[in-house]
Amino acid sequence: MRVVDIIEKKRDGKKLSNEEIDFLLDGYQKGEVPDYQVSSFCMAIFFKGMEQDELVHFTRKMVESGDEIKFKNIKKYLVDKHSTGGVGDKTSISLAPIYAAFDMGTAKLSGRGLGHTGGTIDKLEAIANFKFAENVEDMEALVNNTGIGLMGAAGNIVPLDKKIYALRDVTGTVPSIELIASSVISKKLAVHADAIVLDVKVGNGAFMKTLEDARLLADRMLDIGKGFQRNIVCILTDMDQPLGKAVGNSLEVIEAIEMLRGNGPKDYTELVEVLAAEALILRGDTKNKDEAIKMVQDMVASGRPLENLRMYIKACGGDPLIVDDYKLLPTAKNIFEVKAERSGSVARIMAEDIGKAAMVLGAGRATKDDVIDHAVGLILEMKVGQVINEGDVIATVHYNSDSQLETSIKMIHESIEWSDQNIDERNVILEIKR
Ligand code: URA
Repeated sequence: MRVVDIIEKKRDGKKLSNEEIDFLLDGYQKGEVPDYQVSSFCMAIFFKGMEQDELVHFTRKMVESGDEIKFKNIKKYLVDKHSTGGVGDKTSISLAPIYAAFDMGTAKLSGRGLGHTGGTIDKLEAIANFKFAENVEDMEALVNNTGIGLMGAAGNIVPLDKKIYALRDVTGTVPSIELIASSVISKKLAVHADAIVLDVKVGNGAFMKTLEDARLLADRMLDIGKGFQRNIVCILTDMDQPLGKAVGNSLEVIEAIEMLRGNGPKDYTELVEVLAAEALILRGDTKNKDEAIKMVQDMVASGRPLENLRMYIKACGGDPLIVDDYKLLPTAKNIFEVKAERSGSVARIMAEDIGKAAMVLGAGRATKDDVIDHAVGLILEMKVGQVINEGDVIATVHYNSDSQLETSIKMIHESIEWSDQNIDERNVILEIKR
């Protein structure tokens, strides 16, 4: 077998056999197939795609390239909720304690933020002395005791994805729907949860810019999930404005807690409720979506999720009192009110610009090695559809250093698309695919 023949076959739109995929990927992992051939192969996939069983086999090879985590010592129904990355997305912090209240476990690998999007690990590290699970045994113990066990990315989960992603990043092949689907799902499949709840973000601040592309991606991810007989649901959600109001680590932790008190922003609350309800549906608690949502709402109102969050924070070395006293979280020295420079309806808020406006203050990383300031960020006082008068406060910026304040304010102004017409509020849930 020759790699060049495999590349040409894919270039010509033909289906590859399992043996051909094995030959290429095994060779690449062993360092016997060079980067330039795999780059060319990725480009062929970008243009010609993969059929379902081809994609399933490709993903299987990715999963098998490294370790798998099977959680043998956990008896709970495990849910892995994963988001493809957005701005203001703090859902895991509200959701994991809700799952726990339904006796489901969250045992998952979480990420740090890079660029305009944040990561759950950074957000929870806003809590002083908070330590994540360091190995699978810690994670199992945390899930058994509190229902929640989060760990930073583990060393050898899908190493082939790291290698291929680095190549895609510099060869214009990141946007291949099949490669994104197998990259995302392989990392979920390697960590054996009973249910995978995927939040596929759509819009300006997301990987998928259009609903059409997001549908294609969701379909391919569902194809892979079915090929592995895993329970998966894909929820397509709006990222043509940031989720909720808070962007920045401490501020997002506070918003996630407020949601559990029943005081969350409408879009954020709705998304958390749906992500929780879908897990109940996958577990078989009910088939009825409205009933599932009601179960979640009643559970939040019971206060049990909030109590679970306190328990989890305590078990991880943090002070559970932060749940009741936000002054115990890092707080920025200064607040600046950004005022509207014109009147009109808000038609769109470019989530990516808002993510960057928080990042330049220190809330996120421009490069992997940047150090985060957990206290800083911003609270948006506007949502799409809102009518604003010139001079109204549209955002408050929480900052520690003056150096990037002007830049951040400029980005906030530039993020808004105004209209003189009435604009409808945006729905956060665009579509649910099973
Ligand atoms: N996220 C991933 O993990 N992989 C991709 O290819 C794109 C987004």
